[in-house]
Amino acid sequence: MSMETNKIFGAILLALLIGTLSGFIAEVLVHPKALKQPSYVIAVPESAPKAEAAAAGSGGPAAIGPLLAKADAAAGQTAAKACAACHTFNKGEAGKVGPNLYGIIGGPKAHAQGFAYSDAIAKKGGNWDYEELNHFLFDPKGYAPGTKMTFAGVKKDQERANIVAYLRSLSDTPPPLPQ
Ligand code: HEC
Repeated sequence: MSMETNKIFGAILLALLIGTLSGFIAEVLVHPKALKQPSYVIAVPESAPKAEAAAAGSGGPAAIGPLLAKADAAAGQTAAKACAACHTFNKGEAGKVGPNLYGIIGGPKAHAQGFAYSDAIAKKGGNWDYEELNHFLFDPKGYAPGTKMTFAGVKKDQERANIVAYLRSLSDTPPPLPQ
């Protein structure tokens, strides 16, 4: 083969190669194949705290202090209708299935004279301060296993704080709000 033929042959080969390649590239550009799986995965640590998870009950209740600062006692009174099936709220009123709740905040656990408390509450010890009540109302059975209060708890943080703000109003001398 002469030099000339070689050059021509080479040029044709090159042209074919470029044609095939650009066809291939065009194919990729015009018909992108959908990936079956994402090509990268963002790793999120299992233990990452999630507000939703806390609200769903796996993480415990949010601290009550900041929630009480913006709590609405009137809304709490409405929400406390869920408690009224078992509890009474006015001073001196007799209890129902549950004890009367007047003066509950700051009062001792098992505060109602003559009410037949379970050991879970009667032997718990201490007073119902804001945070104790926050935990009990979030998950009664988790806080006091064996309690007679058959109530699932109030999982919504602000609603629980509203109820606590309402309970606070049921007192001759409401204890100061937590910082
Ligand atoms: C199904 C009935 C029922 C409902 C609903 C219920 N409770 Fe109770 N509650 C009880 C019973 C019964 C007890 C006594 C628990 C024990 O002795 O273990 C109790 C105990 C309590 C105590 C402790 C009282 C003390 O003297 O130590 C508080 C505080 C309380 N309930 C608040 C509430 C609030 C607030 C709600 C609504 C968000 C509510 N409960 C809903 C039945 C109920």
